[in-house]
Amino acid sequence: MSAVVSPVSESEGIQARQQSVTVALAEGDGIGPEITAATCRILEAAGAPVRFETIAVGEACYRQGVTSGIPGEAWDAIRRHRVLLKGPITTPQGSGYKSLNVTLRKALGLFANVRPCRSLHPVVASRHPDMDVLIVRENEEDTYAGIEHRQTAEVTQCLKLISRPGSERIIRYAFELARLQGRKKVTCMTKDNIMKVTDGLFHRVFNEIAAAYPDIEAQHLIIDIGTALMADRPEEFDVVVTPNLVGDILSDVAAQITGSVGLGGSANIGEGCAMFEAVHGSAPDIAGADVANPSGLLLAACDMLRYVGQAETAQRVENAWRVTLEQGAHTADIHRPGHSREKLGTRAFARRVCQNLGHRPETLEASGAVALPRAEASWRPIRNKPEKRLVGVDVFVDFDEAGRAPAALGERLRALACDDTLDLRLITNRGVKVWPDGLPETCCTDHWRCRFRAPEGGFIAHAAVVALLGRLERAGIDFIKTEHLYTFDGEPGFALAQGE
Ligand code: NAI
Repeated sequence: MSAVVSPVSESEGIQARQQSVTVALAEGDGIGPEITAATCRILEAAGAPVRFETIAVGEACYRQGVTSGIPGEAWDAIRRHRVLLKGPITTPQGSGYKSLNVTLRKALGLFANVRPCRSLHPVVASRHPDMDVLIVRENEEDTYAGIEHRQTAEVTQCLKLISRPGSERIIRYAFELARLQGRKKVTCMTKDNIMKVTDGLFHRVFNEIAAAYPDIEAQHLIIDIGTALMADRPEEFDVVVTPNLVGDILSDVAAQITGSVGLGGSANIGEGCAMFEAVHGSAPDIAGADVANPSGLLLAACDMLRYVGQAETAQRVENAWRVTLEQGAHTADIHRPGHSREKLGTRAFARRVCQNLGHRPETLEASGAVALPRAEASWRPIRNKPEKRLVGVDVFVDFDEAGRAPAALGERLRALACDDTLDLRLITNRGVKVWPDGLPETCCTDHWRCRFRAPEGGFIAHAAVVALLGRLERAGIDFIKTEHLYTFDGEPGFALAQGE
């Protein structure tokens, strides 16, 4: 993509006094080059004082053997300019390749993913005319750490990481965003009825931070009913904050019900860096056909302009885009016979937005969006460390003998926990207690969690765990991993098993 510099016309010349900024630009894969070209064309016509340095990332780099999809020169450019506008990237199937999107978000510390989901009723058909939701998704943690294992023939696992500093930052960001944009309510959605330690922490931190924003209503919903309500009554939501995985799903649902996933833009914000992209992926099914809707990337680019201090240009572009939609000039994804007037391809849509620069919408509200808040390092306070005590260990074993009878495994392990420091308390299989007193109906795999605890109220040294593992090894038990059981200031740092 050639660099776009701002040749500002006299009549429109509100930007002429502004300093030009340079931004890294990745065109993306699939429909990426088409929607990126459309977006840049509109920004250029609007006289945005932005210069782009195009970087090569994604599919072509993966094919050349760069398993992250981001070569060194691209990293240098991103780190130099600290702002990236990115088209969607195709993540190759198969292990060995890492998602470039996840890598960028995590390596650059872009912890907040903000996805505005607004209905454009009556201009774009939507069942939800009053929807105007900001989804704030945590971007760095959760199952997206990509730490996965297979340690037995039958079972695979994925590690879910939720931290206190990570939760504090994203939840504070959601409340700051709500305050800055004059929003009334922040809803937190988690699955903490099941994941009591990880999502439980996120929910607890939400309650703590909400107390510092008494002017904003705080609500918590379990994600299943929360998603159902979002699909049915999205007008009841204002700002929504979630951990990573459920936020990924929820924000696609929310973007789609505004009218099309092609309308959603997203901002990824960190303390010193930001990346702007569309919500949707690279849509290989329509790549090269000149039918993709460039709106998601265009709206992301408007947020980028606000981020670099060019709010007036952003407003002009958004207004021209709204006027275009009001004229019934729609791309195929939002085109409805009898409702839309023209079906435009990607390039023609971009041309029409350019023609509409300087006009204000009549039906839709003119753009008045304000900038996103900047993330503050002070949102990660240093805390006193709690007192941490080792009170037991979960030993996971691969056991496929004796007809997989839990009693056989239980008796063997109990005999090995014989030095008065650790007792075998229970065995679970996929989280269900199978020893002692399991039910014969429970279906067991080859993956067993065996919980050893110090005698009541006691704690142990690591040496007790090492000694136990030594005895297990000598007895031919295939232990595949351990998880230590700690208390923190006396509070258990682990989920109690059923019946414990
Ligand atoms: P997708 O979002 O690319 O496509 C889903 C459906 O929406 C398709 O029918 C597509 O044609 C349609 N669609 C998407 N964007 C559109 C637009 N702008 N205009 C009109 N229609 C549009 O999701 P999919 O198919 O699951 O993923 C394709 C690839 O994109 C995968 O390799 C995936 O990993 C990648 N992806 C990349 C993302 C990113 O770069 N941030 C985000 C999500 C997926």
